[in-house]
Amino acid sequence: MISIANLAKTYLDGDRLVEVLKALSLEVSTGASLAITGPSGSGKSTLLNIIAGLVQADAGTVEIGVDGLRVALQSSTEKERTAFRRQNIGYVHQFFNLVPTLTVWENVALPGVLNKKTGARDRAMDLLAEFGLEDRADAFPDILSGGEQQRVAVARAMIIEPAVVLADEPTGNLDQENTDAVTRLLFDSCDQFSTTLIVATHSEAVASLADDRLELGKPSLEILVG
Ligand SMILES: Nc1ncnc2c1ncn2[C@@H]1O[C@H](COP(=O)(O)OP(=O)(O)OP(=O)(O)O)[C@@H](O)[C@H]1O
Ligand SMILES: [Mg+2]
Repeated sequence: MISIANLAKTYLDGDRLVEVLKALSLEVSTGASLAITGPSGSGKSTLLNIIAGLVQADAGTVEIGVDGLRVALQSSTEKERTAFRRQNIGYVHQFFNLVPTLTVWENVALPGVLNKKTGARDRAMDLLAEFGLEDRADAFPDILSGGEQQRVAVARAMIIEPAVVLADEPTGNLDQENTDAVTRLLFDSCDQFSTTLIVATHSEAVASLADDRLELGKPSLEILVG
């Protein structure tokens, strides 16, 4: 499970303090899904990045349970957070973020290879077949459609069978047909591996598939004087 308590994050933007997250607490059970909604600038990406250990919160705690252990991100070093993320967290971005110099197959295998998992390349091919992308395996990402690239990105996130998948507006750049296909793959594969899914989205249809929803509000601003 993921357990977040009293999280706070403020950014300094010129002479303004932007209080993005304030005393935020939430829990997501293992294998459950949570949709994060809210207007642009409300802190959805910030929250996902904090859960991934990529951004440090100003206050509060994030604990992620993996194999019966609770890992407290804030009390680990950057090196430990990187290792934890590599082994346990899959990330799906709005703009796919595939490595352009690697083939589709190599992109999907990469997280497994980095984790020194044996059979990562075979597993990547199996996943591509499951996702209907077998015939794209040897292509480079730039010739794929947006929908195909995002299916590859979901396969890449799932290859390590992660405890957690964080998806940041995964369908923000897709048409309706591809939105439906990618959303189905994302939710179905998380079900298959009992992966906890947190998805930031502006899409009501995507949010309605999640077990729970967290709606963030506009950040409050404070103008600094002097
Ligand atoms: N590194 C940063 N430095 C300064 N301000 C930042 C930084 N990252 C985010 N912010 C600010 O924090 C607020 C929340 O940003 P965030 O990207 O988390 O919002 P979001 O809900 O993901 O928005 P969107 O729906 O547009 O993706 C915004 O006001 C943004 O300008
Ligand atoms: Mg965002």
